[in-house]
Amino acid sequence: PTLEPFLDSLPIPPTIPVNLSQLVIGAYKITQQLHQDLNATTLYAYGTSQATAQYPGPTLIATQFETALIRWENHIPDAQHFLTVDPTVHWANPANGGVPTVVHVHGAEVQSVYDGYPDAWFTPLNETGPELVTQNYQYPNTQPSTMLWYHDHTDGITRLNVLAGLVGLYFVRSSFDAAITALRFPSGQYEIPLVIRDMQFWPNGSINFPNIGDNATIHPSWCPEYFGDTILVNGKAWPYLTVYPRVYRFRILNGANARFFQLFFSAPNLSFWKIGTDQGYLWPPLQLSSILLAPAERVDVLVDFSSLTPGTIIYLNNSAPAPFPDGDPSFSPPQTNVVMQFHVNATSLINQLMLPRPMPLSQCLALITPSLSNFIPVTPTALIATVTRRLLLQEFDDANDNPTHSLLGNATWLDPVTETPKVGATEIWEMINTTPDAHPMHTHLVGFQVLNQQSYDSIGYLNGTCSIETPYGHSGSCFTAIPTGPADYQVGWKDTAIVWPNNVTRFVIRFTPQPGGIFPFDPTFGPGYVWHCHILDHEDNDMMRPFKLIH
Ligand code: C2O
Ligand code: CU
Repeated sequence: PTLEPFLDSLPIPPTIPVNLSQLVIGAYKITQQLHQDLNATTLYAYGTSQATAQYPGPTLIATQFETALIRWENHIPDAQHFLTVDPTVHWANPANGGVPTVVHVHGAEVQSVYDGYPDAWFTPLNETGPELVTQNYQYPNTQPSTMLWYHDHTDGITRLNVLAGLVGLYFVRSSFDAAITALRFPSGQYEIPLVIRDMQFWPNGSINFPNIGDNATIHPSWCPEYFGDTILVNGKAWPYLTVYPRVYRFRILNGANARFFQLFFSAPNLSFWKIGTDQGYLWPPLQLSSILLAPAERVDVLVDFSSLTPGTIIYLNNSAPAPFPDGDPSFSPPQTNVVMQFHVNATSLINQLMLPRPMPLSQCLALITPSLSNFIPVTPTALIATVTRRLLLQEFDDANDNPTHSLLGNATWLDPVTETPKVGATEIWEMINTTPDAHPMHTHLVGFQVLNQQSYDSIGYLNGTCSIETPYGHSGSCFTAIPTGPADYQVGWKDTAIVWPNNVTRFVIRFTPQPGGIFPFDPTFGPGYVWHCHILDHEDNDMMRPFKLIH
């Protein structure tokens, strides 16, 4: 269906504080109107009850250093998923049927039994995956202030459950956040979360998800990347937001299965001031004319509308090809190049007379300090890493060039654990991308920094005609340039970062809480953690591996 953009105002998901009084959140089957001219869409969504469940789910607000208790439940009544499960992709596959779910708070430092391990799923019929210990999760929140997100992580159907709507935001708020709010740093109605993704619909409003794969003989319905022709923000297609001429803070999540976004404003002199990344504040803030965001990445940005004339209309646009970076125009119809609209409204007389005034941009930026961000970029010379792991990102194609399968480190999800870092160790994980796609690589439990990336000849490497053991500049080296530091979209404390094709991207991972210290729990206990590509269609088809911490 062709939907007229900018008819619906941007919804803001309700917030719920989390703390020691246990909150119960369930997954429910709902219908929700995602555009005023579209019939209500069937979704699976989180809520404290059937009546309040919605996509995105409630925004959970945790207080730093205060434990939060959440019981996660599954109330999805369906015997079968409403999206097509591909049984040739190994998956939870409960013997008694039903739709399995398990919840991961993406970016949270938690005990592995509360991490939402893919095999710790559960169904409404009380059937559970082999790794389930409890549905009563504990989050210590002993990590820097940032915006995390929670989403389903069930083995083999994460892409379906997330597309179906099992997504919500999770903020860790610190005393600093409270202090700057008192100083009139943009907060409340001036701090706006934006959960951006693409979807595609049938004329009746239901989600259009292919039930025939690109390579139906191998995988009857797995599609290598799900791309939709409709852009949603906070659960509305192409919404608008009315803003006043002042500074706003946007907390942006790319919540798509596979689509990257390169966001920019239609007003050329309007920029993004990036003050935070996946895992916390960023110092120094970066002034950017566009923001590249892969699935699961977040940014914390200030945008100063104060010089704009009331009545101005601004578009938030997108220029990222899909798949990224090479692109196939059929996946990027023109309407996917616009995300939402802003109306600059005149400040009402009441607002103008109201004191105190909003904090100007320069004062906002001055509050972001080195000690706040705790971000000290690692440099190769200052780095003491105990272990360097070479990890291959691989894709395999059928005779028609359709991807059929992927691997990490030459292994499938089901192969035994090979990554066993020691608690407290600093390691370099060299992501050797042998594929034509960029992959947003994500580590559970720990944040990391991108040390650098280095272009190399991936074809020569795969053919064995050159070596990555040989440094750049020596004969026989696969490297085609010297390493370059992290790009603006890779800098800062990250839990998900873009690994480009024809590049070796080096992550420095310290297996301690970020920005240092010791875990308030035993990270070696339980089934362990996972690392994976956050293109969910890749993750579900073996671009995911376990890792386990050891002492
Ligand atoms: Cu956003 Cu393994 O997850
Ligand atoms: Cu991938």
